[in-house]
Amino acid sequence: MQSKVDQIIQDVGLQGWSLTQNIFTQDQLHLMQELFDSDFLPAKVGKSHQLQRNEEIRGDWIYWIDTLNPPFVLEDLINFLEHLKQSLNQNFFLGIKEFECHLAKYPVNSFYKTHLDRFEKDSSRSFTFIFYLHEAWDKKDGGELVLYNKSGDVVKTVLPAPGSMLCFMSEDFPHEVKTCFRERRSLTGWMHTKIIN
Ligand code: OGA
Ligand code: MN
Repeated sequence: MQSKVDQIIQDVGLQGWSLTQNIFTQDQLHLMQELFDSDFLPAKVGKSHQLQRNEEIRGDWIYWIDTLNPPFVLEDLINFLEHLKQSLNQNFFLGIKEFECHLAKYPVNSFYKTHLDRFEKDSSRSFTFIFYLHEAWDKKDGGELVLYNKSGDVVKTVLPAPGSMLCFMSEDFPHEVKTCFRERRSLTGWMHTKIIN
């Protein structure tokens, strides 16, 4: 775990993002599949009173995780994030207070158009992380995460390989999820510089 966190810190220092393969084994991923039987809600766009479902923008379904009392099968993942949070603060003085995360399920033919994870009037989301939790994924399944820079050039196209994790500085990278041709399962979240709620 330490070496994976160290590699992420090094990558983020150099380029602002990092992609780690094989954070989880096939056995661990298999155990996590039961989480996806939970009662997911349609993900919305916008904030508070402007919140609305718009499948032309995003078509995923989400289920929020209680990070203080996580499901047993997510304990390793939450520990990893706690560790990463401390390292990010020690190395980059980000002042991250806590993190939030949800499971996300993208049905076949859904996508999430290019967006920035920071809300216009709320700059508290500072670091984005995404763990890919489906048990199998092939190039033909689509669902790539495309990371852009602020000029709109492609920085990296990521195939959501099972057990991998992508993370990046929320402010610096607009990104999109291309159309999926198989159900795409992930855990996505944000490190915050403010206490949430
Ligand atoms: C998001 C998001 C990317 C992904 O939920 O904000 O951009 O690869 N997810 O699932
Ligand atoms: Mn996003």
